[in-house]
This record gives sequence, structure tokens and C-alpha cells, in this order.
Amino acid sequence: MSASSTPSVLLNTGAQMPLLGLGTYTLQKPEEVHRAVDVALSVGYRAFDTATYYENEAALGRALRELLPKHGLTREDVFIITKLHPKDQGEKAKEAALLSLSQLDLGYIDLYLIHWPGTHGVPETDPSNPVNRAKSWALLEELHGQGKLKAIGVSNYTPAHMKEMMQSCKVRPALHQVEFHPRLCQAEMRRLCKEYGVCFQAYSSIGQGDLVTNPVVMEVAKSCQRTPAQVLLRWAVQQGVPVLPKSSNPERIEGNAKIFDFTLSDADMDRLSALDCGHKYCPDPSKVL
Ligand SMILES: NC(=O)c1ccc[n+]([C@@H]2O[C@H](COP(=O)([O-])OP(=O)(O)OC[C@H]3O[C@@H](n4cnc5c(N)ncnc54)[C@H](OP(=O)(O)O)[C@@H]3O)[C@@H](O)[C@H]2O)c1
Repeated sequence: MSASSTPSVLLNTGAQMPLLGLGTYTLQKPEEVHRAVDVALSVGYRAFDTATYYENEAALGRALRELLPKHGLTREDVFIITKLHPKDQGEKAKEAALLSLSQLDLGYIDLYLIHWPGTHGVPETDPSNPVNRAKSWALLEELHGQGKLKAIGVSNYTPAHMKEMMQSCKVRPALHQVEFHPRLCQAEMRRLCKEYGVCFQAYSSIGQGDLVTNPVVMEVAKSCQRTPAQVLLRWAVQQGVPVLPKSSNPERIEGNAKIFDFTLSDADMDRLSALDCGHKYCPDPSKVL
């Protein structure tokens, strides 16, 4: 798969974002990040997802600066997502985003997300939570206006957080990054994102590794001669949902990219979607005021 053939989605900013990106949560050692980015670029990944919380922005930026020329690519060929640490929610958001920009050292950030609707250290039901995230958004809107953040968005918002945001934002979020896999189909949030023109992006598509041994996923994989991870990722992209599989294993990084050369039948899509039970592998934001 070449860079030009990487399937993408159109954001409401007018930018194209690749449907496939490499997740980097828990990739921390610089040599591990370097190796994963090298393999990923060679097999067609053109998007990378990091966060201040992952403590690997500097290593990712360095790896890309070193490796893009090796793969005949430039900065414009890749799409970089990073996120505001919940401890920096509110007045510190601008400073934090500028720090991410300098840690990555790639000139600009393609997409900057508010990582979590709450503020680190503040109780979930505290009324300062909505005030802080509204302040963060206003500051990110300024940086977006200055072109430092090409697009801005949110992550882990509930439908209530999203509706509240739509009342006050000047810039609509370009994207919402949420947990999404066959056991958590997020019907209401997908409908809201569609209504608001916000791209819905999946994280933890492989259920943090757990879903590869789900019996239904394994049966579908066997019947179409693909790996369970490919089936899980295909299930999402076949619905137009961008994915961010994480792996530190070169064979898996490569395998997880081979999801654009086959189609799941309607019956298999339905069997997988029928696993929906609201199960979350990641923290639940529903109690955050
Ligand atoms: N916005 C947020 O709050 C948020 C939350 C969670 C995640 N994310 C983003 O989304 C990315 C992906 O989510 P995730 O890391 O939670 O989970 P994930 O991608 O669903 O699963 C990653 C786990 O699955 C294993 N794995 C990967 N490919 C595999 C394969 N082909 N076969 C079997 N096992 C495989 C990996 O192990 P190996 O490394 O050993 O292969 C790792 O343990 C993150 O890295 C991060 O960038 C964002």
C-alpha cells in the first residue's frame, strides 16, 4: 500500500485523515518507538496517535524526523494526533499544546484532542469540570486560528458532553476519538457525530488484545482466512470508522495494516455487531459532570 493509496476520511476542516493509524499507548522506549514507526511507515501507516499522557511525543517526533526521508516521505505525508493531558485542562491548555508542539518538533500538529472531559485531581461530579473543558476548548480554538493546530477535537466525551459543547463552541470539533469495537458499538454517539459533522474515530479496536480470542471473532476470522485482529479492524473501517491499532510487534503492525483488501459479508458484520453489550476496556467517562 503506497502513501497515495492509503484510504482516508474527509474532516470538516477539509483535511484528509488516513483511516489507519498506529496507536502508541505504552510504546515508550525511544528505540521501541523508532522500530514501530519504521515498520509502520514501510507497510503503509500514514497516521500516528500519541498523547502527552503517553510520555512518548518527543520519541515519536524524533523517530519521524529520522525515518520520513528513509521512506521517501515528507512531513505532509503523515498525520499526527496528540492530546491534552487531563492535568492541563483549563487555563493551562494553551501552554500544554505549545509544549506538545515543541516536543514533537514536526512544525505543526494535524489534530489536537482534549483527552478526557474531566480534570485530573478534580472529583468527577465537581462543577469545575465543564468550566475547565470549555476554557480548554476556547484556548485550542485560538491556536487553531493561528494555524498551529490544523484541527482540534475531543476524546471520551459522552453524548451529554458533546451536546453541551455544541451550545458554546465557535469551532466545531473535527473528530471525536472513543472506544469502539463489536462489544461497544456506541450507536448514540455515532449518530450524534454524524448529525454534528464530527468524524467518529475508534480506539481499542482489538479490545486491548482481549477480543482476538472472542469465539465469534475467531470463527469469522477462520471463515475468511484472516487474523482476528484484521477482522476487528475491518469491521470498523468497513463502517467508515478510522482505527488506531497499537502494536510493538513488527509482524502484527504489518498484519494489522492488511485490512483494505477484503470485505466482510453483511452476515459477518451483523454477527460481530450483535456482540454489543456496552463493555468498556478503558475508563468510563459517564460520571464526569
Ligand atoms: N483517547 C483515549 O483515551 C485512548 C484510550 C485508549 C487508546 N487510545 C489510542 O488507541 C490506541 C489503540 O488502543 P489500545 O492500545 O488501547 O488497544 P488495541 O489497539 O485495541 O490493542 C493493543 C493490544 O493488542 C495487542 N495486539 C495488537 N495487534 C495484535 C494482533 N494482531 N494480534 C494479537 N494481539 C495484538 C497489542 O500487543 P503487542 O504490542 O504485543 O502486539 C496490545 O497489547 C492506543 O495505543 C492509543 O493510541 C486512545
